[in-house]
Amino acid sequence: MLVSAKEMLTKAHEGHYAVGQFNINNLEWTKSILLAAEEAKSPVILGVSEGAGKYMTGYKTVAAMVKAMIEELGITVPVALHLDHGSYEGCYKCIEAGFSSIMFDGSHYPIAENVAKTSELVKVCAEKGMSLEAEVGAIGGEEDGVVGNGECADPNEGKMIADLGVTMLAAGIGNIHGKYPANWPGLSFETLAAVSEKVGDMPLVLHGGTGIPEEMIKKAISLGVSKINVNTECQLAFAAATREYIEAGKDQQGKGFDPRKLLAPGAAAIKATVIEKMQLFGSVGKA
Ligand code: 13P
Repeated sequence: MLVSAKEMLTKAHEGHYAVGQFNINNLEWTKSILLAAEEAKSPVILGVSEGAGKYMTGYKTVAAMVKAMIEELGITVPVALHLDHGSYEGCYKCIEAGFSSIMFDGSHYPIAENVAKTSELVKVCAEKGMSLEAEVGAIGGEEDGVVGNGECADPNEGKMIADLGVTMLAAGIGNIHGKYPANWPGLSFETLAAVSEKVGDMPLVLHGGTGIPEEMIKKAISLGVSKINVNTECQLAFAAATREYIEAGKDQQGKGFDPRKLLAPGAAAIKATVIEKMQLFGSVGKA
């Protein structure tokens, strides 16, 4: 069922595990992630970047597809449909389209403007029963045109935003979208611990989940991270499996060019990646 992310994240925070946000790009992505969540009996968050929303022809198409797929696949685990790194305008479009959750990324605004816009959206989301993620500091790298320098969050700014009544808070702690460079110094647990101490019970969000070593994921969860975003890793798994299929010449055998056959190994690879992450995050069996 389609739900806000509030209850699943409150439970995750109390139970010391994290719920995965997996970004979707098309029907295959959505289906694979939903089937993975159902098989793992795990709550799940489907992330939609503004670029992916546009690619899928718009947020209304995405919301209609996700709602219909939950029903027709018989998905019983809690599913949140969440805008990832939303602009102010994008948030309103997703509220109207029927998303159950949004992220307003006001991290590039001066803090007073981030506070003003976030607090307005807190009220709108409360009226609609939706969850809201806000951000302080910045996630490094680039995701669908959203570029960040990767500054670590100021814990006092984190508290200011958390106190507005958001559902969850993303704080930059040296995390980066996409692959991590070989010279990456690792997550700043000092920043994470300081933010966590300031914001108390607020579920924290770790972006840039691709390529973070397991022990760092576990430590982050122990310090209050209850939502972990993964995007690139599913893309890499899909691309590798599709490449293998084509390089083996399978698209040229019989009706191997049929898109339902051609895309099947990639879809299976996404599902396997998602289940593996759910095991690492501890959300298996928590639906
Ligand atoms: P990765 O692409 O690095 O997994 O990051 C995903 C993310 O943080 C989505 O907001």
